[in-house]
Amino acid sequence: MPERGTRWIGTSWKMTKTRAEGLAWARGLVDGLAARGRAPGAAAGPDAPQVFVVPPATALAEVSALLAGEAPHVLVGAQDAHWEDAGAWTGELSVPQVADAGARLVEIGHSERREHFGDTDERVALKVRAALRHGLVPLLCVGETTAVRSSGRHAAHVADQVRSAVDGLDPADAVRVVVAYEPVWAIGAGGRRARAEEVAEVVEPLVADLGDRVAGVLFGGSVDVAGAPDLLAVPGVDGLFVGRAAWDVEGFLRLVDVVTGAGR
Ligand code: PGA
Repeated sequence: MPERGTRWIGTSWKMTKTRAEGLAWARGLVDGLAARGRAPGAAAGPDAPQVFVVPPATALAEVSALLAGEAPHVLVGAQDAHWEDAGAWTGELSVPQVADAGARLVEIGHSERREHFGDTDERVALKVRAALRHGLVPLLCVGETTAVRSSGRHAAHVADQVRSAVDGLDPADAVRVVVAYEPVWAIGAGGRRARAEEVAEVVEPLVADLGDRVAGVLFGGSVDVAGAPDLLAVPGVDGLFVGRAAWDVEGFLRLVDVVTGAGR
């Protein structure tokens, strides 16, 4: 686990990329980080962000094998995992299975899963526990819809989502959870860029409440190079979780540069 105070930058490819496309992206990442002087074994810390990538399950084993060999400081993750370790759950993957394929992180509770695949707060909490039980980093995604934002309850809503997943955890486990605040209205092609003050309205009280209980709080949703500096300047935001702007590896590397340059 990177030391507290480390900046984070990561991407999920969602349902994009073949294995070959994923490997080409990972190769581009290795070369791009090497060109920036990042030594293959260099741990993340105040001067170097923790980089992570979340490929689709089909590319997980190959991408994680390539990066484990050539850029082992990069965390590779799965986009979801079931709360049970094994069993009759057709179509699902368990945490031991994604770990076996090389995942060291599991994305949990993304809004697309909450909206379309029944990931309730209760299931999210179970999945967070499953990830922790097997030593993986849970990337806990939370965020309010437009309707909740309009009601003015957004900060309380997000705080409740986080609390329902982390309350009751052993403190030594909770400190391994990374929270990604991703307002639903900011995510994806129909999303709109969040303004720094809109992010602060949620993140500042959240961080005040959580203190050092979790590993960090990232922001996600229509993040791009132009908007990244303002988002990183919001107190309590430790990094960025990016979709579309990072699917081209050059775009991702530009965001790595912004996060690296933002320092701490
Ligand atoms: P986006 O996706 O950057 O394409 O909006 C973000 C996310 O869903 O994490």
